[in-house]
Amino acid sequence: MVLRLASSFASLPQSRQCLNPRLERKGLRRFKRGYVERPQILSSTEDAAVGLRVFVVSDLHTDYSENMNWVNSLSTVNHKHNVLLVAGDVAETYKNFVTTMSLLKDRFEHVLYVPGNHDLWCRRESENYVDSIEKLGKLLEACKGLGVRTDPVIIEGLGIIPLFSWYHESFDQEEDITGFSIPSLEMACKDYHDAIEDIKETCDQIITFSHFVPRQELCPEKRMLFYPNLPKIIGSDSLEARLRSIHGAHGNPSACHVFGHTHFCWDAILDGIRYVQAPLAYPRERKRRMNGGENWLPFCVYSNGGFAERLSPCYWSDYYSVNPREPHNTELAPWVARFYRHRTELT
Ligand SMILES: [Fe+2]
Repeated sequence: MVLRLASSFASLPQSRQCLNPRLERKGLRRFKRGYVERPQILSSTEDAAVGLRVFVVSDLHTDYSENMNWVNSLSTVNHKHNVLLVAGDVAETYKNFVTTMSLLKDRFEHVLYVPGNHDLWCRRESENYVDSIEKLGKLLEACKGLGVRTDPVIIEGLGIIPLFSWYHESFDQEEDITGFSIPSLEMACKDYHDAIEDIKETCDQIITFSHFVPRQELCPEKRMLFYPNLPKIIGSDSLEARLRSIHGAHGNPSACHVFGHTHFCWDAILDGIRYVQAPLAYPRERKRRMNGGENWLPFCVYSNGGFAERLSPCYWSDYYSVNPREPHNTELAPWVARFYRHRTELT
């Protein structure tokens, strides 16, 4: 596996099209200052009865044939007027990535995407790429060719902002459970400053989305996890700071952030921002989880001018809505303790 990321990625060309006079004036000012970056305003053929509908899904992992079949089985009719946000980890091979995004674009009017770690891994086709940066360029090119957006847009007044992100070990601030080797990676972030500023000024409702996790409270405590060091490879404080700079430090009722990566369904409001994860995840995970997802994904997070009722059930965010976190408690949960006792007995 070759995985090397820099602090910024190559920018995609930004659209010049703008239908809002306010933005036109701002754009003109920026053009004079040498900027041309602005959010594109996309039209929607939304169903008048329900208005704009935005669906979300993450962690499609279509290298598993079951998952590719699931994507293939999505209606080619029902979503023709809908938007889909794909919060990363589509597939590890370029071929499966392109097939998946092409299937989704056939089904949804607008598809937006942020890269996940699996998308950038080169381990299955290392002969094709020097490193993950080169692969990222290829994936973004493919998205552009398919009409999949990776830049901030405004659709029917709703601002949608993809946040490219990576994780960093410093994200993990809870007590360590020792005894495991820790992978680490450089953090990388990429976004579109001026386009985001335009959306902040123009839109009352904004959805941001990233593959990685912006807050540690959006993952179960490590004593609950079969891999307790997971928090070290899932998120970044910089990502939380970035989305707060968009939604406001204290959030607001029209602020929503969609994420992925950990494969745990999540729907919780923390400090005024609603955080949602709706992963397809691996086939084996769907089988053992209470709300597998095949029958209800993608999750409609926005409809008819407002955000949807919360995703339910969400085992872990439901758990933390009534149970406080105990970050200093390192006593393994019974199922984790059983797992490691069994491992110890085997060795
Ligand atoms: Fe991931």
